[in-house]
Amino acid sequence: MKTTGFPPGFLWGAATSSQQIEGAIGAAGRRESIWDRFATVPGNIEDGTNADVACDHYHRWREDLQLMKWLGLGAYRFSIAWPRVVPDGRGPVNPAGLDFYDGLVDALLDAGITPFATLYHWDLPQALQEAGGWANRDTVDRFLDYTAAVTARLGDRVKNWITHNEPWCISHLGHEQGCHAPGLKDPATALRASHHLLLSHGRAVPVIRGEVAGAEVGIVHNHCPAYPHSDSEGDRDAARWFDGFFNRWYLDPLFRGRYPEDVIADRVQQGDLPSAELPFVEEGDLDVISRSVDYLGVNYYSRAVFRVGPQGEPVGIRSGKPAQRNDMGWEDYPPGLRRLLVRLHEEYAVPRLYVTENGGAWSDAPDAEGRVRDHRKIRYLHGHLHAALDALDAGVPLRGYFAWSLLDNWEWAHGYPKRFGFYWVDYETQERIAKDSALWYRDVIARHGLDDELSLPV
Ligand code: FCB
Repeated sequence: MKTTGFPPGFLWGAATSSQQIEGAIGAAGRRESIWDRFATVPGNIEDGTNADVACDHYHRWREDLQLMKWLGLGAYRFSIAWPRVVPDGRGPVNPAGLDFYDGLVDALLDAGITPFATLYHWDLPQALQEAGGWANRDTVDRFLDYTAAVTARLGDRVKNWITHNEPWCISHLGHEQGCHAPGLKDPATALRASHHLLLSHGRAVPVIRGEVAGAEVGIVHNHCPAYPHSDSEGDRDAARWFDGFFNRWYLDPLFRGRYPEDVIADRVQQGDLPSAELPFVEEGDLDVISRSVDYLGVNYYSRAVFRVGPQGEPVGIRSGKPAQRNDMGWEDYPPGLRRLLVRLHEEYAVPRLYVTENGGAWSDAPDAEGRVRDHRKIRYLHGHLHAALDALDAGVPLRGYFAWSLLDNWEWAHGYPKRFGFYWVDYETQERIAKDSALWYRDVIARHGLDDELSLPV
């Protein structure tokens, strides 16, 4: 069987986020996050749960570090909980909240695992939401204070920084669709929030560089390549609409210093903006946002297929056969990853790229022998790592790959049933069990390469 190797230095990682794994929401001065609050509202979380305990990683991180070592990870992407560090969002820094990350970082480095720290993975202090949250421009300054506090403490050891995770989800799902915290349903507010997120990213870049010698700074976007259902003009325009709304609204300001005109026109037409003037953009903002980053992190899960509806509106359609979809309903579609990476390289000239999340949820649970035979996940990873190899072959400067996720965790509004981890978590006992996908990934990492044909653990 032929094995293809990855380039020297290519990093193998796994990712998590604070709200989804830590638990201990009242420990050492941590205060309420918007997700803690969101979860108190009946109906917001599908299984009615919250993240009060989650994986109890805050207390069990040493054990979880052993899981990372067993996999042979070269890098670990985690996020820092703002409500631990500046519990009220403004005002005094809580050094005890940073102690937790301090210990984790030391232990990662001792284990030879490179830390990638995300500053904002959705857990805004609730106190800031009460002052308007991301729709309030003042939150940008609060983010800078928080960023300075974190990087001053950890920057001697953490060199790889990510400002935000997935601004599209924060602004659209949180402020327009309302299915994520803070649960607002107002398109104009969502657009304003998206701009403040990007602005806070741009303004944080020099803050991080000022605190961290040799910093590598990036942002993480979720991108989803858009495919027209047919070659008709209407379907192609529906795909253009989605690409603008989902991808280009976030890429163009970063890499071209402007918002895409067609998306502004779509928003005006939809009644989300009164005119093509963007009332929340101030002079100089776009220069700040387009300040250069060292890399872009890309979260890729699946593609989108669009067609035109009866009134000319864009309509997303479910793609893939049922067997190709995971528990989230997302199609296993590796070619989309190659296409996305090549586009970012060719159209946006992104200096360096990491896949910062990739994966899916499958419900496989321990069988009679205690094995979790999550072979659909292995198939998914195998396909996507091949797509990453194809992108490398096409000249894409891809430097590493982080699977989502190290362990099963609290999947936001879906709660606990959606299991994305390499480790199956028993939420009653907090026992972790390595799934077959963990064995498989461990082998890929050890060989720094991938078999052309898929072979499943026996
Ligand atoms: C991404 C999030 C991550 C996780 C995965 C499944 O959108 O960044 O926290 O929920 O989806």
